[in-house]
Amino acid sequence: MGLVYDALTGNHTTQKPLWLMRQAGRYLPEYQAVRACFPHFMDFCFTPDAVCEVTLQPIERFGFDAAIIFSDILVIPHLLGQRVDFQKDHGPVLQPLSATELLVLLETRTLGEELEPIRQAITQTRSTLTPPKDLIGFAGAPWTLATYMLSHGKTQDFTPLIAWGAAHAEIFERLLTALCSHITTLLCAHIEAGCNVVQIFDSWAGAVPSTHVESWVLRPLVRIVTAVRQVHPNIPIIYFARGAAHTYPDLAHLNIAFSVDEQTAMDGLMLDSTIPLQGNLSPQALAEGAFEAQACHLLTHFANRPYIFNLGHGILPHTPLTHVETLVRLVREQS
Ligand code: CP3
Repeated sequence: MGLVYDALTGNHTTQKPLWLMRQAGRYLPEYQAVRACFPHFMDFCFTPDAVCEVTLQPIERFGFDAAIIFSDILVIPHLLGQRVDFQKDHGPVLQPLSATELLVLLETRTLGEELEPIRQAITQTRSTLTPPKDLIGFAGAPWTLATYMLSHGKTQDFTPLIAWGAAHAEIFERLLTALCSHITTLLCAHIEAGCNVVQIFDSWAGAVPSTHVESWVLRPLVRIVTAVRQVHPNIPIIYFARGAAHTYPDLAHLNIAFSVDEQTAMDGLMLDSTIPLQGNLSPQALAEGAFEAQACHLLTHFANRPYIFNLGHGILPHTPLTHVETLVRLVREQS
């Protein structure tokens, strides 16, 4: 449909597509205004009118080529029965359930009717979003979701979790496998409601020791991509393994695109030049203002390869709007 879809499906365009991870978020005053209406972040995620409104805000303000549906990777544990709360300036806090309790939730519950408000929000957004803009759906990867679920929030130190996973390999494997199935259900729901691209966020992939990369990162990803493509054979999929771009060559056969964090040297990626890439601009540089040289370098470097302009991670809440405006102008003029 749009430029992002074109870059992901091998249609070469001279104009580079542009969107930003976490583009619907706290750096926007109009987002803050809607957010203030909801004491509970999760209630916000399940209110279609509000989701549609904030999803479209960054498109209206900056004209990005794709909207990403406003939601969160933690809707999966929340809907399965592990309550998620967001406390101001504290990040997510998840109900403290044991691994055994989590396994019961994951293996006995299914996502169905509960996804209706998300489906409705996507349908509504798609009907308002002017073509040819793309609409991106997303989910967290199993490892990243497991870190939040088992640590009951943001993990400060991964050592105990890794030790636990290694010592309880069988139960951890079952947790990850069950997560794959719920993630597949969510991604298919996003696609069926109107998303034409999906992204899988593995924000903590970089914390996985090399001995466990195969079973905790690669195998679950292959399982999800295969299952989603069984239902939607042509859906473009972007994978973002923050801190773990070294895993990408092992996934190249999946016919997916890769989003690259700001720590990774794009030149060092051992990937065929037909594989679409995304990202790499430093979110800190964008927030601070010294981003133009890196942005120009990315545009020149990828002039002849499928590349989606984006950040290496989510936009920081203190990013000035004028910096985003400058970036948009630069990408439009230089590509
Ligand atoms: O990209 C977008 O604009 C779409 C919306 C989106 C949100 N979360 C909204 C959100 C997306 C794609 C996410 C993904 C997400 N959520 C990830 C993966 C990407 C990444 O940043 O690594 C992760 C790890 C989460 C979990 C999560 N949600 C955390 C750790 C937090 C709190 C800290 C933070 O970064 O804000 C959230 C809350 C959250 N999700 C907010 C938004 C706009 C801020 C909450 C608020 O407005 O109070």
